[in-house]
Amino acid sequence: MPMTAAEARAALAHDPHRPRYHFTAPHNWLNDPNGFYNADGVYQLFYQYNPNGAQWGDIHWGHATSTDLVTWTDLPIALAPTPGGPDEGGCWSGAAVVHEGVPTLLYTGVRNGDQRPCLAVSHDNWVTWEKYADNPVIATPPEGVGSQDFRDHVIWREGDDWYQLIGAGFAGIGGATLLYRSRDLRTWDYLHPLYHRPHTELEPVPTGTMWECPDFFPLGDKHVLVISVWSEDDTGYTAYMVGDYRDHRFTPDSFHVLDYGRNRFFAPQSLKDESGRRVMMGWVREDRRPAAQIRAGWSGAMSLPRVLALRPDGRLSLTPHPHLQHLRGDHFRLTDVDVTDTLPLSVAGDTLELLVEWDISDAAQVGLKFRASPDGEEETLLTYDRATGDLVLDRTRTTLDPEAHRYEQRAPLHLAEGETLKLHIFLDRSVVEIFANDYIALTARVYPTRADSVGLALVASGGAARVVSVDVWEVAGV
Ligand code: FRU
Repeated sequence: MPMTAAEARAALAHDPHRPRYHFTAPHNWLNDPNGFYNADGVYQLFYQYNPNGAQWGDIHWGHATSTDLVTWTDLPIALAPTPGGPDEGGCWSGAAVVHEGVPTLLYTGVRNGDQRPCLAVSHDNWVTWEKYADNPVIATPPEGVGSQDFRDHVIWREGDDWYQLIGAGFAGIGGATLLYRSRDLRTWDYLHPLYHRPHTELEPVPTGTMWECPDFFPLGDKHVLVISVWSEDDTGYTAYMVGDYRDHRFTPDSFHVLDYGRNRFFAPQSLKDESGRRVMMGWVREDRRPAAQIRAGWSGAMSLPRVLALRPDGRLSLTPHPHLQHLRGDHFRLTDVDVTDTLPLSVAGDTLELLVEWDISDAAQVGLKFRASPDGEEETLLTYDRATGDLVLDRTRTTLDPEAHRYEQRAPLHLAEGETLKLHIFLDRSVVEIFANDYIALTARVYPTRADSVGLALVASGGAARVVSVDVWEVAGV
């Protein structure tokens, strides 16, 4: 008898690196969120899932639902590859919509490496899925796009028509999003690239040779195009463009990095929640060797739901969803303290939410140590460097484990004169999500080995600084 999802979760619950309030698969491998959809207040979250191991491969669609975007209930596997079918090599990423009352998934079927859009419908309210007999619904990619660079979907409605974007790359040129139109989700006409960009254009952000997992939505009076950049010579990251959508073409005004954890936050999807907020979740990838992931028996988590809004300066504001406040437990608070060196806090833990506001005054660097052992043998240091205007996550001493990676991560954060530094940090065992001044996001992983690597301290150097306030909450597991 295979284990139930609940049994699989219970068997892994003691793992000190396994998150307690970030969504994970019951066990084994998870990557991208898929079919993230608000079905009248029941949020559907599917995900790339290997039910047979904690490494990528044999990709199915796992499934969970939630009514608050924070606590999730496991459902049976939604899609599995069909031997001999157009998805025999995997059911890769895709989107969900409701067409004439019928929940419908559009996903990338893979056979012999070739990627083709496939469709499935549910007649029992999102639980089980029947594949369309005439899959794939698009026979070939347009000219200039390789069969193995044609995947991932986002769908929306305009008038009587459905539109979708497929992630792609034009061979030798660069990443692209291909725009298609349909009446019934089964017959699609290719229109043109919604937007594409040469890989040789590097400023202000490079966008690589192929774009995975596009997301596209209106926000305020603008549209946002999100892409997961894939490049042969780089590991990838997620970027967004804010611009105008007119005559079925997208013209970006600006390009930005969505999360400075690079590919620790990847392939996000978004929906509109019950209060009309644009909410995004992405895949939080591991940052340790594959052998360690396989031994752990699980790999990958979903980010917390993030609320996106348009700022006056044309960037996105990125903030944790307010429902996360329901998980807050014991509270510690400190206000108005001068810090000249290191100020240990009397609270500790590996499952915490922290809000820290700094008035930097004349200090060169201010920040915070977390997951610190009493002797400092293991610790992770987050600092803002006034001279460079960088937020730096120093993970070089984060763990003694040789199988965990220990590089530094950095995000540019230019504070205006007199502006305070506002750090909002979620620690969930090995998962760390950092939000700075409501628009910089940095996702990271930490794998301390010592049980006492749970200490917290405020740090300032090169001059005195004042902490306006520190709030720390224990976060309840879900
Ligand atoms: C992104 C991605 C997608 C693909 C899926 C396969 O992480 O590579 O492009 O559909 O994962 O699991």
